[in-house]
Amino acid sequence: MMRTHNCGELKREHVSKKVFLCGWICSRRDHGEIIFMDIRDKHGITQIVFDPEKNKDAHRKAHMVRNEYCVGVSGVVFQRPEGTVNPKISTGEIEVEVDEIEVFSESLTPPFEIKDTENVSEEIRLKYRYLDLRRPCMQNKLGIRHRTHKFIFDFLDDEGFITVETPMLTKSTPEGARDYLVPSRLQQGSFYALPQSPQLFKQLLMVSGAEKYFQMARCFRDEDLRADRQPEFTQLDMEMAFVDQEDVFDVCERLFQGLFSTVHGRKVDVPFQRMAHEEAMSRYGTDKPDMRFDLCLRDLTSDVSDCDFRIFQDVLGSGGRVTGLAAPGYGNISRREIDDLTAFVAEYGARGLAYFKVEENELVSPIARFFSEETLRLLRRNTGADTGDMIFIVADSKETSREAMGALRSRIGKEKGLCNGDVFKFVWVVDFPLFKFNRDEKKWESEHHPFTSFREEDLKHMENNELSRVRAKSYDLVLNGSEIGSGSIRIHRRDIQRKIFDVLGIAKEEYEKKFGFLLESFCYGPPPHGGVAFGIDRIIALFTGDPSIREVIPFPKTQKGICPLTGAPSAVDAGQLRDLGLRPRE
Ligand code: AMO
Repeated sequence: MMRTHNCGELKREHVSKKVFLCGWICSRRDHGEIIFMDIRDKHGITQIVFDPEKNKDAHRKAHMVRNEYCVGVSGVVFQRPEGTVNPKISTGEIEVEVDEIEVFSESLTPPFEIKDTENVSEEIRLKYRYLDLRRPCMQNKLGIRHRTHKFIFDFLDDEGFITVETPMLTKSTPEGARDYLVPSRLQQGSFYALPQSPQLFKQLLMVSGAEKYFQMARCFRDEDLRADRQPEFTQLDMEMAFVDQEDVFDVCERLFQGLFSTVHGRKVDVPFQRMAHEEAMSRYGTDKPDMRFDLCLRDLTSDVSDCDFRIFQDVLGSGGRVTGLAAPGYGNISRREIDDLTAFVAEYGARGLAYFKVEENELVSPIARFFSEETLRLLRRNTGADTGDMIFIVADSKETSREAMGALRSRIGKEKGLCNGDVFKFVWVVDFPLFKFNRDEKKWESEHHPFTSFREEDLKHMENNELSRVRAKSYDLVLNGSEIGSGSIRIHRRDIQRKIFDVLGIAKEEYEKKFGFLLESFCYGPPPHGGVAFGIDRIIALFTGDPSIREVIPFPKTQKGICPLTGAPSAVDAGQLRDLGLRPRE
């Protein structure tokens, strides 16, 4: 090794030692004749000193050195003079008096200062990601990612899992996003699809007898990007044979308990809370409830059934719902703030937001006169409102009123500072419906994916064509309002799998073409099996408290799916297209 120590480790006990440090110059201060610099590597920062009295040659060279030059320095460790100790850094008690400096390479003036506090546009950060990653906070995130992978690998190895790599050049998988396609040169006119997940291969591995599989898998989905969605992301993908839902939960809970304590120094209690999907939707208005705060939605439909308010009556007449919540301490918000919240719920499809200010002895609202005393009393009681609160109500279809009020609940939680980033509340959302109705395309679809098994006692609903009543054996793991994982117990019987395809209206030719190989494997003694996949990027962003997973992915794409560093995606030359049997765009 070139260096004797790293830039974060020298302390008082090293005083008088001769050392050699390597790293990047990150600040320089000329104090008359003496020059001070900081040298930085991934471990920390050390102050180095060039004194012309002690070493003329090193001092002369120091004049040429600029920020981000990569250098090696040899020198002797000294205790810093009284009053100059810096308690903020681990090496703050010492400095190194340099007797020799070697410039390994020079640097242009970087487009931004390599400092945690520097406020730089994301476009520039991503274009110069290699400089952005030099910043200590980004180095820390790389470290967290590494330790997360290592912990998971070791933990699952101890549990008897093996990691298996599955193909990247493959066929479409059933997650339902758009595929990234790769044209084949050897089979012109044919395309591979990049995997949206290793779903089909992990099920094949169960047929193969692998029993306990996991993989840190790259997944590719061509969908609209958001803060928690990238086109290319990492899953911890798992599958197990001979398990039921509780077996899957058990190993995952212990994994998270260990991961949070080892990598993040946080205690996590197990077992995690379990909540039926219907309860999540009715109490929190979402299948990703943030359990860090208690505020709950209330179904007020029957309470307002005899009111004279036309809008509510119209909604009741068309089978809709009236959903409310008591916003703590919101009683005195201004008209403008109410308009703002009304516009906010409108983004979720709500046509209006009714409000009642909760006073000592009455509910005050422009629409209060349409409600009897008794109804107002019920509204107050059933929302649990206190004096000073504001009761907000959305009347609409069941889905819209819940979704809009769920979003309002989250907003209130954030505004009131109830979403403490240091608290971690896990919840398994279970008993999802097996099917959901796609209103645009007017057809039933799988809520999770078509290989998901369902509760045996709900078979009768499927046979009676009451599809909305069939409950899946699927589950999501939600942490602080973010869906960090999703999985299910799978169908392992061919006849049942066929039945599901029939219900979904997927023609035999179509499913044989897409998934025939999996169905064929089920002719050869498939074991009962189930599994789950966790979004590693989302988990790490929760560790670091970052609002977007782009912050924790080493080389992410922008919201528009572009990599400003490499310029991908980019045009290719006509020859490459010809080789693939493709024609350039006219
Ligand atoms: P699902 O599609 O729900 O399930 O994905 C599992 C988890 O992966 C994460 N995730 C994403 N993270 C970042 N960017 C994205 N675009 C993105 N999409 C999903 C989420 C999600 O919970 N094969 C099934 C799993 C199974 O059934 O075992 C699957 O992929 O955290």
